[in-house]
Amino acid sequence: SEDLSLEQHLRPHTFEQYIGQEQVKNNLKIFIEAAKMRQETLDHVLLYGPPGLGKTTLAQIIANEMGGSLKTTSGPAIERPGDLAAVLTSVEPGDVLFIDEIHRLPRSIEEVLYPAMEDFCLDIVIGKGPSARSIRLDLPPFTLVGATTRAGALSAPLRDRFGVLSRLEYYKTDELKEIVLRTAQVLDTEIEETAAREIALRSRGTPRIANRLLKRVRDFAQVKGDGTVTFELSTEALDLMQVDRLGLDHIDHKFLKTIIEKFNGGPVGLDTIAATIGEEAGTIEDVYEPYLLQIGFIQRTPRGRVVTYAVYDHFQMEVPEK
Ligand code: ADE
Repeated sequence: SEDLSLEQHLRPHTFEQYIGQEQVKNNLKIFIEAAKMRQETLDHVLLYGPPGLGKTTLAQIIANEMGGSLKTTSGPAIERPGDLAAVLTSVEPGDVLFIDEIHRLPRSIEEVLYPAMEDFCLDIVIGKGPSARSIRLDLPPFTLVGATTRAGALSAPLRDRFGVLSRLEYYKTDELKEIVLRTAQVLDTEIEETAAREIALRSRGTPRIANRLLKRVRDFAQVKGDGTVTFELSTEALDLMQVDRLGLDHIDHKFLKTIIEKFNGGPVGLDTIAATIGEEAGTIEDVYEPYLLQIGFIQRTPRGRVVTYAVYDHFQMEVPEK
């Protein structure tokens, strides 16, 4: 509809429209249907996996399918118990509360969250010193959907309070191609199948990247062509944007080439590489490394990161003697 932002418009709103993550989707559909049959809220759901794979989108779909609305916040946005209380008291029966980056929730806040998740109530302390007292607020039944790039970074007691744990996987090329074709349709853009496939191949298994590349290639097609996203314009645009045949960008290149050129292929510690290339260690670990690990370009060893032969091959470099 008119009042949706372009970004919201691009996102699928139902499981029907959501491409890929078949296992996660099929399980969630059953749990949602069962909860609806019993007229209960859905158990709390933890979505984990690399960024850009559709965690926020799934939270929105869960809310839609349960007939509630979505309230969104994030771990770092909640600093004090009062911040959490403000969000929780705005929740209405059957709503979904989405907490992104839930692993960054302060431990002191987690303790306030436990009774909210288990018994739908909130114990908050008001005042300070001898006059401080604790009050208990009843909350409406709701579903917490937590998202994290690292399930391992969650405390065990928090993880244990989720009834559903779903791990999102990188998308297959065919699925990404379908997503690109769907997005092109929403954007009212003509696109060749071969162009959609090329964008899919260079998107690192990630719909967020695929949709971003599509928008930029579409800009090229508009300015340099007649608006149709052709295969030829796609490869030209992707090359100009320094997205290589495997979808690796200049930061992936810098990361890999630094290990090769400055550290003889590794092993080298993450913090050392981070300092050398001027990126945050956390960003490298959560955003760049998961895909490089998945395609077998790096290994994590107890002594640090090591590049594999595949990287030398990809860059057409000689493997040095050690
Ligand atoms: N846009 C982004 N992710 C999507 C998905 N999984 N299915 C359909 N469209 C999408």
